[in-house]
Amino acid sequence: MSRVIDMIGGNLPFLIKAENKMFMPWNDELLTGISEIDSQHKWLVEATNRLHDELSKPQSDPAVVGDILEGLVDYTFNHFIMEEELFERFGYPETAAHKAQHNVFTAKISGLLHKHEDGEIASGEALELLKSWLIQHIMKTDKAYVSFFGANGMT
Ligand SMILES: [Fe+2]
Ligand SMILES: [Fe+2]
Repeated sequence: MSRVIDMIGGNLPFLIKAENKMFMPWNDELLTGISEIDSQHKWLVEATNRLHDELSKPQSDPAVVGDILEGLVDYTFNHFIMEEELFERFGYPETAAHKAQHNVFTAKISGLLHKHEDGEIASGEALELLKSWLIQHIMKTDKAYVSFFGANGMT
């Protein structure tokens, strides 16, 4: 390791900084323990980082931004459908409130896509909102169904 540090010498502080700069690093506190849900959440976090990275470039490519946003809209839609099917299957009592949150987010993310299609650049503020919504929703609202599913026969 020290040899590697010798080799890169003065660049090390820069590299560490670059590594710490990830917009939304995955944190295992976001895990629900339901593997399919967790891999979908990881995908959403990863796509949010890709969107942030592309928009941070001095010359971000609108086609790439559009692809990432379209991917996020589609993937989020499918992810929410999957969760909502589980609610139905297990008779989850918080379904209505949870679905309402999904609908708010769907509107936010499609709004970003439409603005992008109108030539508007997604703001840092919009990205912060995306990030904090995902964290809040996964940590509180999604995690709330885990014990219910477990107690109601999910294996
Ligand atoms: Fe979720
Ligand atoms: Fe959810």
